[in-house]
Amino acid sequence: MGRNWFDLFIPENLREDVRKVFHSVMGQKDTLGFLNFENEILGKSGQVFNVAWSNVLTKDVEGNVVDVTCLGVDLTERRRSEDKLRKSEIKYRTMMEAIKDPVYICSEDFIIQYMNQAMIDRVGRDATGELCYQALHRFDRKCRWCKYGETFQAGHAEKNIFSPLDKSSFNVSTTVFVNESGSLSKLSVFRDTTELIELQKRLQQAQKMEAIGNLAGGIAHDFNNILFPIIGMSEMLMEDLSSGSLEYKYAHAIYKAGHRAKELVAQILAFSRQSDQKKMPIRFQDILEEVLKLCRATIPANIKIEHKIQRNCGFIMGNATQLHQVGMNLITNAYHAVQEKNGKIIVALEEIKIDRTNLTDTGIHSGKYLLFTVSDDGTGMTDKVKNKIFEPYFTTKEQGKGTGLGLAVVYGIVKEYGGEIEVQTQIGSGTIFSVYLPLMSQSENQGAAEIKTEIKMGHEHILLVDDDAAVANLEQQILERLGYQITMRTGSLDAVEVFRSNPDAFDIVITDMTMPNMTGDQLAEKILSIKPDIPIVICTGFSERINKEQAEAIGVKGFLMKPVVKSDFASMVRKVLDDAKSENKG
Ligand SMILES: Nc1ncnc2c1ncn2[C@@H]1O[C@H](COP(=O)(O)OP(=O)(O)OP(=O)(O)O)[C@@H](O)[C@H]1O
Ligand SMILES: [Mg+2]
Repeated sequence: MGRNWFDLFIPENLREDVRKVFHSVMGQKDTLGFLNFENEILGKSGQVFNVAWSNVLTKDVEGNVVDVTCLGVDLTERRRSEDKLRKSEIKYRTMMEAIKDPVYICSEDFIIQYMNQAMIDRVGRDATGELCYQALHRFDRKCRWCKYGETFQAGHAEKNIFSPLDKSSFNVSTTVFVNESGSLSKLSVFRDTTELIELQKRLQQAQKMEAIGNLAGGIAHDFNNILFPIIGMSEMLMEDLSSGSLEYKYAHAIYKAGHRAKELVAQILAFSRQSDQKKMPIRFQDILEEVLKLCRATIPANIKIEHKIQRNCGFIMGNATQLHQVGMNLITNAYHAVQEKNGKIIVALEEIKIDRTNLTDTGIHSGKYLLFTVSDDGTGMTDKVKNKIFEPYFTTKEQGKGTGLGLAVVYGIVKEYGGEIEVQTQIGSGTIFSVYLPLMSQSENQGAAEIKTEIKMGHEHILLVDDDAAVANLEQQILERLGYQITMRTGSLDAVEVFRSNPDAFDIVITDMTMPNMTGDQLAEKILSIKPDIPIVICTGFSERINKEQAEAIGVKGFLMKPVVKSDFASMVRKVLDDAKSENKG
């Protein structure tokens, strides 16, 4: 008692302020001083209390202040819990804001009460106070997937949704909680599953691809046997008919359709990597010439096809069928892009040198390349389409028109050759596909033979064996036209008998691989046991797994892949016969 109140109870840093307030209270006209004035005071042992003051002045008749009664209420505990609550609120808010998944809270009547930053970013603004279905998905009524009542009853729900706002898929997990006031709210967390779903789709596609591959392998043999006479017979008809006649046109149409079917089988097989794609030094310009001929024959004349082919380009390591596919696919796509507006396609091939000064961003190394470009002034592509064109099964064509395998095949081949493919496109103006294929160095291609297209003839006697009579007949006709003398058998046992009866009458045996009773290699072994130096050629279909090393070890001299084209037939038979002759001489 008797000591200065300010010095005893008020913390030093507040003394001046509190003194001022106290003086203004004392100077008041009214006897009721400030209510609710709050300040910190010090306890006996120096601890700090928060106190709210109510002050009452006592005045004498002249109005002089006699004394002041200060009633303090201790708010320390309340302040402490408020502070705790504030800190906890900051903690949870920070957590919510840190969550990368969009989160929001809404009331029972669909009003958004909170959105975290990720949700604000997704929606483009803080839509607190707005209706959830409008702000989040731009619907004008409650979302059709919203199991509102059920969620509030069960307390938790999960659903997969597709939001039209940004065409994304989400897994939404919703939890109900009770507010302080007793009302209910629900907190929903959106997990973006767009990529996951895309991955699942791709996995399904991969499985579909595998299934197609297996199926294709399975039917390819039979299918090629069917195609063989279609292509071969129509080819022969075309040779026999005068090129201006209607019949010639019909035969040509059959030939073209047969070719298209053959390519389709090759395409599917190439994609499922079931075909035998041996690489050798090759001149792309020769293949491109064939491709252009075929394209000119199939693409209507109102579409201009210009070509700038450098004739003396060097060799690349490649496979004729695959390179044919690269050319055909790119030109066919260009044709489809210009079809509507009678546009123009430019096909170019040149040798280029890439060094440090002209490196493209495609990631190819410096060196010599073949640059093959197909440009069109057609539809062009949006960025979204451009980003997907190399994916298998991606097509913008209507169902049944495109498989979406074309560019996937091209991409696979180009990459396999150590090359690159680049696309420049502008919607409405057109597209340029640039394919870079590494050229062989001079020393590498020294031994590379020119592709000879000259058809080689002969007169020797051939024993021809194939269990499919249509195929056998066609092969016989092709070989007879090449000048050979043919004995044909459709049964393997029968063939062995014919051979055994007069082995020296035959110069070469050409046999199918898959036959009842005896396979081609078994037949070869039998024949060789009768006459060890007779050359044998085996024809195989795509799906027939023949062990070439083993067949070569027993003495088989050559292999042909069905359907056999006349020129392949001619050169293989000639080569094997000539080799056998020079061996016999030596
Ligand atoms: N030159 C081009 N101009 C415009 N769009 C193109 C061009 N080339 C390809 N595309 C787009 O790329 C998609 C995929 O092409 P791709 O060749 O892989 O399949 P497709 O042509 O649709 O079918 P197919 O398997 O019969 O070739 C096409 O559907 C088309 O949308
Ligand atoms: Mg295509």
